[in-house]
Amino acid sequence: REKKRKEGVNLLEMSASFFRERLKMPEGQGAREYLERRGLSLEVQRTFGIGYAPGQWDALKQHLGGQGVAEGLQVEYGLLVQHEDSGRTYDRFRDRVVFPIRDIRGRTLGFGGRVLGDAKPKYLNSPETPVFHKGRELYGLYEARQANHRLERLLIVEGYMDVVALAQFGIVNAVATLGTATTEDHLQRLFRLVGEVVFCFDGDKAGRQAAARALETVLPQMIDGRQARFLFLPEGEDPDTLVRKEGAKAFEDRITCASPLSEFLFDQAAQGRDLARVEDRERYASQVLAAIERLPQGVLKSLMLTELSRRTGVDESRFEALMASHQRQPE
Ligand code: GTP
Ligand code: MN
Ligand code: MN
Ligand code: MN
Ligand code: MN
Repeated sequence: REKKRKEGVNLLEMSASFFRERLKMPEGQGAREYLERRGLSLEVQRTFGIGYAPGQWDALKQHLGGQGVAEGLQVEYGLLVQHEDSGRTYDRFRDRVVFPIRDIRGRTLGFGGRVLGDAKPKYLNSPETPVFHKGRELYGLYEARQANHRLERLLIVEGYMDVVALAQFGIVNAVATLGTATTEDHLQRLFRLVGEVVFCFDGDKAGRQAAARALETVLPQMIDGRQARFLFLPEGEDPDTLVRKEGAKAFEDRITCASPLSEFLFDQAAQGRDLARVEDRERYASQVLAAIERLPQGVLKSLMLTELSRRTGVDESRFEALMASHQRQPE
């Protein structure tokens, strides 16, 4: 088993070099132009090990096969797709820019591939394999650790391009989830490395929904001493487009001004409600209380309760009694 895993990791590394080589060759011209259009310097391409998967059905398969790698292993590690009926195999990544996804020690675990144009799907990821688990890995974490002597804060963004573009502008502490929501597992990993995470999702409906879900996920992990903040981008922007438009300094100012969790929570509960109305205040208080209940015991939890009481004029002891009754009778 252990031997097989080693073989798998080795195979992924071979694939990553293959993609990098192909980007430099004549067939990689379209991809090189694409990366240039997206404004990625050669240096940042190198830092992130970006490559190109050729358009043929079997470029990688031929290459790995030539090195004696068994086809079954290539399928198991997500490099080849096996057609269900015929059993025939072909390259998963074709005519795409390829981003190697590395673990914290720099070993390639999988890939994300972007089409050069508008074809669908825009991004293709490695499937779950013995070493690659989407809900666990974070793109850019290895590179962020490499670039920083001491990491204090990590920025969580949506996309590969966001991580790479920010890095190019000197903001070298961004990581991206791999097209999934932020999981508990992600946050546990991040909080083991840093005291503060800043969520920075796209300025669109999906990004705002992702922020709301991230809030839910982070609440139980807010033990005292940790910080979570939320940065909202202007409509239609993502970190990549915005840092190019405004530059690093303006983007860093936005990070500095990002809303603390408490502020986001109260703002979100107030949204679309008229707090002059008793019924709206009831919904507001219930929503905030439900969030506070999910916080671990600690100073933050007490302070949030005091703040809710201040904002609603309801005595804290009433809220405490409510929480106690919820604990006795969980919904
Ligand atoms: P660019 O268009 O290259 O700037 O990408 P983006 O990162 O801005 O894309 P978007 O905001 O649409 O999506 C954010 C992230 O979700 C991407 O970086 C991917 O990880 C993931 N994603 C987007 N589209 C797809 C898709 O079609 N399939 C999969 N599996 N993931 C996707
Ligand atoms: Mn595993
Ligand atoms: Mn988006
Ligand atoms: Mn983008
Ligand atoms: Mn985006």
